[in-house]
Amino acid sequence: MEKRKIIIDCDPGVDDAIALAFAAAHQEEFELLAVTAVSGNQSIEKVAQNALNLAEFYGLDVPVARGMDAPLVKEPLYAAKTHGENGIGQCAIPAAAKTMMKEHAVLYLNRLLKELPEGKKATLIATGPLTNIAMLLRLFPEVKDKILEIVFMGGAAMGGNVTPSAEFNMYVDPDAARIVFKSGIPLVMCGLDATLKCTLKRNQIIKLCQSGNPAAKVCGDMAGYTLENTSAKYRGEVSIHDVVPLMYLLHPEIFTIKRTILDVDCSEGPARGTTLCDFRWWEHDEEELTSFVLLDADGSRFQEYLITALYELGESMRGRTEGIQ
Ligand code: RIB
Ligand code: CA
Repeated sequence: MEKRKIIIDCDPGVDDAIALAFAAAHQEEFELLAVTAVSGNQSIEKVAQNALNLAEFYGLDVPVARGMDAPLVKEPLYAAKTHGENGIGQCAIPAAAKTMMKEHAVLYLNRLLKELPEGKKATLIATGPLTNIAMLLRLFPEVKDKILEIVFMGGAAMGGNVTPSAEFNMYVDPDAARIVFKSGIPLVMCGLDATLKCTLKRNQIIKLCQSGNPAAKVCGDMAGYTLENTSAKYRGEVSIHDVVPLMYLLHPEIFTIKRTILDVDCSEGPARGTTLCDFRWWEHDEEELTSFVLLDADGSRFQEYLITALYELGESMRGRTEGIQ
């Protein structure tokens, strides 16, 4: 069966970093065409370098490109408390020998998608603010024909994390999110309704940290930073939000999904960044109903699939990463 072509647009970020590990563990199922970085959890310089270092560390031989350094309208809003000053939980991984693409990520995404063979499309996996993708659609609207669907971590049918009703990726750049929501491209929103149940528990994180497995240990250490430095320490678990888009593509059966129409509040008020899920299918034409939202997840099976993948990836990394603490 032909591998699904994917591009990961991310802001590593602890959970983005674990999502990249999960992607590296599934190179049989996914053909990862590129990794692009966007300003979000940390500055573009930090998240882009993290993406480059992580890709090489995990054995992902893919181009990495640097994208937008700020949201479309507002100033950047970093999440150092959750992800650390370096963006990956103050963990040290070897600096990549490879260099970043010289081309801006938005220009590279356009070229990469346009150069796909006739009839082939790619799935965009977005785990940060949607700034890069919004710019891509604004500058090159015809590229929509080369995008199969966008599966993104962000938003919620109900609730928030940055505010009572807004999730970080949407809150940072709601204007970008609205451009993507109105594009007509099929969307799957992996929001907090599902991702808050997709966690690693304290005892699982400790075991990962204590393992001699290079992928398990680094992901355990990164998750451990979030566990100890946020309110996750009271929950006793860390949501690994950004793994969910890939987990959904591999194991849709562990999620509850519902068709919807997405919108987002771009106002300056208390609801800024709130995503709105319109389930009134009877009010809309069939062609408008191009989006889905994940409403629930089986957390135990998420943990089982994720932990297994990290150990498998680490076994494939042995030899290349000897002596790395
Ligand atoms: O709200 C969680 C999302 O915001 C995740 O993508 C995390 O990495 C941060 O970017
Ligand atoms: Ca992210």
